[in-house]
Amino acid sequence: MLVTHQPVLRRFWYPVLPLEQLDPGPVPFTLLGERIVLWRGADGVPAALADRCCHRTAQLSKGWVTEAGELQCGYHGWTFDRCGQCVHIPQQPDLPPRGQVASYRCEARYGYVWVCLDEPLTELPDFPEAREDGYRQIDEFYEPWACAGLRVMENSFDNAHFSFVHRATFGLSDNPRPAELKITPAEYGFVMRAVAPVRNPELQKELLQMADERTERHMESRWFMPFVRKLRIAYPNGVVHSIVTAATPIDDRHSQIVQWAWRNDSEADAPAAKVIAFDRQVTEEDRAILETTDFDVPLDAAGGESHMPSDKPGLVMRQQLRELLAAHGEREVRRSDAPRGQAVTLLRKMS
Ligand code: FES
Ligand code: CO
Repeated sequence: MLVTHQPVLRRFWYPVLPLEQLDPGPVPFTLLGERIVLWRGADGVPAALADRCCHRTAQLSKGWVTEAGELQCGYHGWTFDRCGQCVHIPQQPDLPPRGQVASYRCEARYGYVWVCLDEPLTELPDFPEAREDGYRQIDEFYEPWACAGLRVMENSFDNAHFSFVHRATFGLSDNPRPAELKITPAEYGFVMRAVAPVRNPELQKELLQMADERTERHMESRWFMPFVRKLRIAYPNGVVHSIVTAATPIDDRHSQIVQWAWRNDSEADAPAAKVIAFDRQVTEEDRAILETTDFDVPLDAAGGESHMPSDKPGLVMRQQLRELLAAHGEREVRRSDAPRGQAVTLLRKMS
């Protein structure tokens, strides 16, 4: 599936930027191949417009935010409000301004700016940890990866890769049998539950305050279609490490990884810097292998990949995405279907 060719994917919410990187902006971002510009209005609320001025097409992200919290183009100074309406043309201040730039839904939640490019099919994902007592939020990673978002999602439900990809951290190299898993359907996604035996390496012993060489991860992992996942890991001593990972689709070949965690222990028990350091090791292990995979993930079972039983969560994702496309009158677009000119344009955008 080429994400930029499936319009229904524009109807989901994606985290695109940590709020503090938007002070006040403007900041450019490419979402599903579409260039957008983000900034904070005078009321502090973030806004998103197409990053293309309706006068002579300059990128609005090269401009600046006015004292009134509006976005001024850096080329001739046309000024836009959060709805994309041109509100001021400096060269002709006495005439009513004309001109409109596309605007997008934009919300601040969990410390990030979320954008939806079209009529949303769902609410923003709900994470109870954000309002429950006893949890602290640790912001971990914000970086582009050269791989498809669906690969990142499938990998995070794949219990069969621990012994190989994560053999240097928590994987048990003497036990490659993947933990049994159970999948329960949910709206626009599913929940997977599994208990996986894992190694407890030195840094993790310190973070968990647990000396055992091995332990268990009690995992409850929720997939929010298409590219957000929350993995709640409970350890036998009661420590909960609940990680949100979004693979926000930049274009067909690149995903912006946005990851944060909630933990129910204290900074004194497990300093945030060390929590991030351990998750960094694990994440780099995943990244190194995922960036070698094909970006065009086939949704169709006969798409040219072989499977094993532990691939089930990924296969359920592919099936749910097939059903989503069908329900919205779309057909899966593969790399071989895409018009050549379009593929070249996508590559140029990234260079
Ligand atoms: Fe933006 Fe002219 S291109 S004001
Ligand atoms: Co992994």
